[in-house]
Amino acid sequence: MTDFPSFPRHFVFGAATAAYQIEGAVREGGRGDSIWDTFVRLPGRVDGGDSGDTACDHYHRHAEDIALLKELGVDSYRFSIAWPRVQPTGTGPANPAGLDFYARLVDRLLEAGVEPAVTLYHWDLPQALEDRGGWRNRDTALRFAEYASVVAEALADRVPRWITLNEPWCSAFLGYANGHHAPGAREGTPALAAAHHLLVGHGHAMGALRAAGVREAGITLNPDHVTPATPGPEDTAAALRAETQRNLVWTEPLLAGRYPESEEDTWGELITRQTFRRPGDLELISAPMDFLGINYYTPAVVRDAPHREPDPRLRTADDNRFAAVGMPGVRHTAMDWPVAPHTLHALLVSLRDRYGDALPPIHITENGSAEHDEPAPDGTVHDTDRISYLDGHLRAVAAALADGVDVRGYYVWSLLDNFEWAHGYSKRFGIVHVDYATQRRTPKDSYHWYRRLIAARR
Ligand code: NOJ
Repeated sequence: MTDFPSFPRHFVFGAATAAYQIEGAVREGGRGDSIWDTFVRLPGRVDGGDSGDTACDHYHRHAEDIALLKELGVDSYRFSIAWPRVQPTGTGPANPAGLDFYARLVDRLLEAGVEPAVTLYHWDLPQALEDRGGWRNRDTALRFAEYASVVAEALADRVPRWITLNEPWCSAFLGYANGHHAPGAREGTPALAAAHHLLVGHGHAMGALRAAGVREAGITLNPDHVTPATPGPEDTAAALRAETQRNLVWTEPLLAGRYPESEEDTWGELITRQTFRRPGDLELISAPMDFLGINYYTPAVVRDAPHREPDPRLRTADDNRFAAVGMPGVRHTAMDWPVAPHTLHALLVSLRDRYGDALPPIHITENGSAEHDEPAPDGTVHDTDRISYLDGHLRAVAAALADGVDVRGYYVWSLLDNFEWAHGYSKRFGIVHVDYATQRRTPKDSYHWYRRLIAARR
């Protein structure tokens, strides 16, 4: 594709990764265990029994990875800091070796002309905190603020963009409701307490970042574009429940300082009897942000589904009486996710329409696709499906810009093939191929395409 979607000169192009997915070196530099180190050892939880023990060995190969970013020409690199490297037990003074690793990474990025964008929490909670209840426990929110302040004190002068949490929906509902992610708890809807504590943690961390004088701070959510499978009342109500869990439980407190109107219909007694909310929480959570990060991959078409009690034997617990159905007639990625770029445009416009001036500028902090990449003998990958996925979604972003939505940047997920959580290494999202046996990195066609697109920015 030679005809690129066009973006303003100051639009930020980036690439993103996360610590546990790429770093490896889980026993080095005084790092403590995270919930993922524990989870990957539970039988049957991760495809192939894979773990992040070695991953892309980025901990040792970051110089090579920064060279790839420089060559790519991105303005910004979004990576996450592993909390258990900085505070091995989730509390107390910083582990100097852990902090140094990130300080060096930041310095080398700046030398390469790439701005660092830091995510403080991309799912690797120190195991010691999980042992005290994890995100079910409100105290974890305070520990998170302490950690945020330790990191920001060290790096605020050199890191312009800060993201408190990545996709807290996953931390709460995949972590504590259906157990697909660490810590693997299958407790059903009481995970709502974890969701609230994550938001409280975000609020406190924003305060810590402000106190350290960071320039730009926000959160990254993964809102869904939800449509009912049929126009009937049952599916329409199910779609509202899905939207409540996926979107409104996050955006309403963050952007409007209120809990979603639809929450009682979605959660019933759990809401009317909850004890985890405290006076002042909404003010804390809704403190102004400089940007909202959005990760977007695929839309959700949902139908009504019967209520299921959480069942520890099932891989899926109660999920608020909705179920996803496929999307006929569109291509599906290797994740079996329907490709429908117009839904990203629609989502961005709908957020702007719902929140108006209360919606901060947006960064697309992740977008990308896992494809069935087949490397040629020389290691090159002709990933035309990924290029067309990225092209379609970038055009959707450009269309939202043209409609007046204030989108400031776009980060491709991911720079490297990496550890795709419960799918292990079976799913490849990288624009750079990683041969895990040799750790050889080979830029795919999509990498070269993205480089040309960035260079063509007007
Ligand atoms: C969102 C997550 O933030 C990231 O860690 C993950 O690899 C991608 N989605 C793809 O599933």
